[in-house]
Amino acid sequence: MSNIQFPDTFLWGGATAANQLEGAFTAGGKGLSIQDVMPHGILTPRTEGPTDDNLKQVGIDFYNRYAEDIALFAEMGFTVYRFSIAWSRIFPNGDEAEPNEEGLAFYDRVLDELEKHGIEPLITLSHYETPLHLSEKYDGWVSRELIGFFENYARAVFERYRGRVKYWLTFNEINSVLHAPFLSGGINTPKDELSESDLYQAVHHELVASARVTRLAHEIDPAYRVGCMVIALPIYPLTPAPDDIVKVLNADHENLMFTDVHVRGVYPGYALRHFRDHGIKLNITDLDREDLKNTVDFVSFSYYMSMCESADPSSLKAEGNILGRILNPHLEASEWGWQIDPQGLRVILNQFWDRFQKPLFIVENGLGAKDQLVEIDGVRTVVDDYRITYLNDHLVQVAEALDDGVDVMGYTTWGCIDLVAASTAQLSKRYGFIYVDRNDDGTGTLDRYKKKSFHWYADVIRTSGASLQV
Ligand code: BG6
Repeated sequence: MSNIQFPDTFLWGGATAANQLEGAFTAGGKGLSIQDVMPHGILTPRTEGPTDDNLKQVGIDFYNRYAEDIALFAEMGFTVYRFSIAWSRIFPNGDEAEPNEEGLAFYDRVLDELEKHGIEPLITLSHYETPLHLSEKYDGWVSRELIGFFENYARAVFERYRGRVKYWLTFNEINSVLHAPFLSGGINTPKDELSESDLYQAVHHELVASARVTRLAHEIDPAYRVGCMVIALPIYPLTPAPDDIVKVLNADHENLMFTDVHVRGVYPGYALRHFRDHGIKLNITDLDREDLKNTVDFVSFSYYMSMCESADPSSLKAEGNILGRILNPHLEASEWGWQIDPQGLRVILNQFWDRFQKPLFIVENGLGAKDQLVEIDGVRTVVDDYRITYLNDHLVQVAEALDDGVDVMGYTTWGCIDLVAASTAQLSKRYGFIYVDRNDDGTGTLDRYKKKSFHWYADVIRTSGASLQV
């Protein structure tokens, strides 16, 4: 046992996204989302329409098995579950006037189960699943009209679930739109044909929409707490050369702009300079400037890795979660090349706290790995010591940050149950405490099995971190 004791109020749980686990991609009147034309992830171009080889059409069948899955989360002692609402279940095309009752009713049932087990919901409004129609007809967030459509959608769910939900997130990893415009912003124009002005105009529309629905949430229920959500990426200079340090400064600014606007309600000077220097002309109205002042209650983020930056063009590139940069020679990597840096989590928690002085929520962290289902004493399981080590080492750094005085609200591991990967659309890239019998070729029974990490996480939660190995 360690001396670690997380606060009693600390929220412990796991995170998922609708398109990666629900399946039932047309059930209950659901419309298509951009995910239905991304059968192989983000590295291959979108398809014309849905194709049978898209694992997300069935996902892990959470749409039908949510009660069983939530019961397993409860068995681990979760006090929070982060999930997303599929926008196209509520507004199948995205631009209708009235919501789809069957879609709303599905999330009522999910909330019923969570309530039964005393698990707090944490809901992402938009997690890489823009309705396809909004992408094809309006070019996604490039169009200002999406602000209104998003507000209608947010109003429908804020009103429907009032009194049942406290925590909301607006856009998942909003800063990824600069690198993955279709996935993140539903922008149908191919990336290499998209002008920087259109791209940043889309960013601006998302920022305004985020601020407007933050105000709306507070109006509809003053108890609602709304957070932004970004990819957190500590960036280290490859060497102490001043040119490398300036590279880091610029790379940090590219990411931090999103959080700065969400927390401070205005564009920072360095962003205005970037627009000027790059000839980026934006349509920012006086009303937009007013709207942006509706700032968030907390800052949430995913953390998978740190990166390096270097002014030397021959430096080795790193694989990454959308924002790939330069390889750090001191770090090991996952089977997918994502560099593992638990201390980076303490670093970014401190940096964000020092900069924002807002409560922080780690809403994604975890290890994607190939698991082997085995039988031990007649019980099927996975001996995932590598995942336990990864999560243990990151949680120890969260405890360090708490000791540093950082206000951390909670921690939800990514993919607490195996699901379809966002970047590669594989099921074999597994993150869960719960193994799901489904393979990359779509075969499998969809049965669930508890991995070794399932019992490990239950102990961590039960002991408020005391069982962590320092
Ligand atoms: C984050 C996303 O980027 O990383 C998740 O918010 C995603 O949707 C997670 O699943 C892990 O990435 P991947 O590609 O391994 O699924």
